[in-house]
Amino acid sequence: MTTSRAQWSSRLGFVLAAAGSAIGLGNLWKFPYITLENHGGAFVLVYLAAIAVVGAPIMAAEIILGRKSQLSPVGAFGLLARGRPGGARWRAVGYLGVLAGFVILSYYSVVAGWTIRYIVMAASGRLGELAHHPEALQGFFGAFLASPGEQVLCHSLFMAATVGVVYFGVGRGIERTARVLMPLLFAILFALVVYSIPTPGFGRAVVFLFRPSFAELTAGGVLEALGHSFFTLSLGMGAMLTYGSYMRRQDSIPHATLTICVLDTLIAIMACLIMYSIIFSFDLEVSKSSTILFTTIPVVFFKLPGGAIVSGLFYLLVAFAALTSTISLLEVVSSYTIDELGWGRRRASLTMGFAIWVFGVFSALSLGSVGSLSRINLIGRESTTGVFGTLDYLASNWFLPVGGLLIALFAGWVLTGRECRDELEGGHGGLGWSYGVWRFLIRFASPAAVGAIIVSVILGAEYQ
Ligand code: TRP
Repeated sequence: MTTSRAQWSSRLGFVLAAAGSAIGLGNLWKFPYITLENHGGAFVLVYLAAIAVVGAPIMAAEIILGRKSQLSPVGAFGLLARGRPGGARWRAVGYLGVLAGFVILSYYSVVAGWTIRYIVMAASGRLGELAHHPEALQGFFGAFLASPGEQVLCHSLFMAATVGVVYFGVGRGIERTARVLMPLLFAILFALVVYSIPTPGFGRAVVFLFRPSFAELTAGGVLEALGHSFFTLSLGMGAMLTYGSYMRRQDSIPHATLTICVLDTLIAIMACLIMYSIIFSFDLEVSKSSTILFTTIPVVFFKLPGGAIVSGLFYLLVAFAALTSTISLLEVVSSYTIDELGWGRRRASLTMGFAIWVFGVFSALSLGSVGSLSRINLIGRESTTGVFGTLDYLASNWFLPVGGLLIALFAGWVLTGRECRDELEGGHGGLGWSYGVWRFLIRFASPAAVGAIIVSVILGAEYQ
């Protein structure tokens, strides 16, 4: 075992970095939108169950694999699978993760880049002018998507920021960024929740989120909740595995897992409270369009006092959340070249960042041809047109669930119970019965649930 591997400086450092990876566009943009589409209440309950039964156990499994091997995904599977059933073939799970990181980052950075445009617009007052005329804002957004120059510029800026962080490494780059941005993010979000409480729609938002009506729950909704639990927790591609490989042995994996899952869920719920309160306050007709974050939200902000400041803060919040996620995606890809190809960190971050940037340019340029805004479905279940939609469809419907299933099977059936227990209890102390619960979930419940997602995607693809 090497002692030269970089480490988080403290337990909090790991938790903030990993929560930073988990909390992103998935929480602030996707969750509020799919919850609205799935009628709230019951969907939220299913989502909470999915986090507990599938998300949390697989997150613990990823961290176990990372900390035990002290390597990024490809090397981790290579080392841990040696001399066991499947042998070196398990390395494929690592490669799948690197590929998924590459693909997801290329289009995620494009959407994350939109926040830069909106921050600038909020600051210049232009957003306020547009927001008073919803059609004007729609028109602006459509033109913005179709503008190759602006799309490439925003994507480039966001990728540059991402590379700029990963370049400086685990401690000085990733951890330091998370330590600054995450508390700011919590503070902004908290302030916005406080701001939304006195609005007339707040009560309705709470009822919508917490009063389950099971009649409105569909099988598709259950699968969507399951699939989203993966994306939102950054699971299935070795991001948590890679971050886990920098975790100190004296820190507790169960505690960290629990904290990250709770924070991620809280933030998603808070984002819903903020957006629904203001949407319900004005009885706005919300289109099914997944662009609500960029076309509906500004309109509502400017109906309330302090719209300019609040909307500026809001897009800053989204940008921060997205940045701490994009750095984790780039770290997976870079650390592969560092651990397996022997590259230095600077070369790794610059080269891989550049390659992903090039790939992302294709996504950025494909948006204009999408035509109708409502067809843009960043991480949805349906395949959309263009490079952007295709990549997103591949990654969220295939790479992540397949990766997650294999990670669960590896931890549950290839590693011995003793090995997992040692890693989970290292830095934590005796786990008692809760270890048995985790073992049951990772061997049976998680693979069954993830298997159901995969089967549904296969059937869905055939019926199209
Ligand atoms: N979890 C992030 C979000 O909700 C996205 C993300 C970052 C991610 N790293 C990942 C998703 C790794 C899957 C795998 O926005």
